[in-house]
Amino acid sequence: MSKEKPGIWITGASSGIGRAAAIEFAKTGAKVFVSGRRALELERINTELDSDKISVEVFPCNIASHTNVDQTVKKISAISKIDCLINNAGITSFKLAEDNSINEINDIIQTNLLGSIYAIKAVLPQMISNKSGTIINILSIVTKKTFTKSSIYSASKSGLLGYANSLREEVRKYNIKVINVVPGATDTSMWSKDIRNQHSNRMMSGEDIARVLVWTYLQKENLVTEEIVMRPIEGDL
Ligand SMILES: NC(=O)c1ccc[n+]([C@@H]2O[C@H](COP(=O)([O-])OP(=O)(O)OC[C@H]3O[C@@H](n4cnc5c(N)ncnc54)[C@H](OP(=O)(O)O)[C@@H]3O)[C@@H](O)[C@H]2O)c1
Repeated sequence: MSKEKPGIWITGASSGIGRAAAIEFAKTGAKVFVSGRRALELERINTELDSDKISVEVFPCNIASHTNVDQTVKKISAISKIDCLINNAGITSFKLAEDNSINEINDIIQTNLLGSIYAIKAVLPQMISNKSGTIINILSIVTKKTFTKSSIYSASKSGLLGYANSLREEVRKYNIKVINVVPGATDTSMWSKDIRNQHSNRMMSGEDIARVLVWTYLQKENLVTEEIVMRPIEGDL
């Protein structure tokens, strides 16, 4: 880790992959800023970190609201520069397209696609002016393979993939890295209890993904790992 502690902003850190990433980054000595809607769950991360005498800073934020995202970035930036954004907040519905309500469609696109874009838009000016920064997007294996009962989710993640690939080419000149992480089935509350009970032994864990996030963030200054695909060894669910 560089001499000055890097500032890492993780969205959707109240559970699953984001929570594991917050803990893993905090253990490297980084200044970690965690967001999500459930403030209590975010605070609980510090209970777990207490024994290591380290902590994360909690900034509740609804990623689907661009005003909330802008306010949150202003608050974090008053404390630290944001060296790395981990765009992780996300939801899904596991329903057939014909069964998705308009509200579900709006929520998924607003959170996964627009929310991630709002977060990027909010951190980009400081990264451009710093001539440095890392944006890590947590996409999904649905961007690589076709699954049913995932149409809106796939649209949201594939939309973010297209946005991120275009953005990467625009911001190379500012030394900003755009990294897409593409996980397959991971044992988190995104899945139903039944599926987790049945398949958790073959799914990846949030900690598995978190270790890869730290590893990729710590790569040499002059290279960017553009895409990382991670799957359970036994294949997709
Ligand atoms: N689990 C998998 O198999 C898998 C595979 C590939 C990709 N992913 C992706 O990994 C990311 C993390 O998901 P997970 O698997 O760790 O599931 P999770 O445990 O359900 O975590 C989702 C996180 O997103 C946050 N979130 C949801 N809506 C939000 C909003 N409007 N504003 C702010 N935060 C919001 C939640 O926090 P609050 O409820 O507190 O707001 C929660 O912390 C998602 O983008 C997901 O698509 C998951």
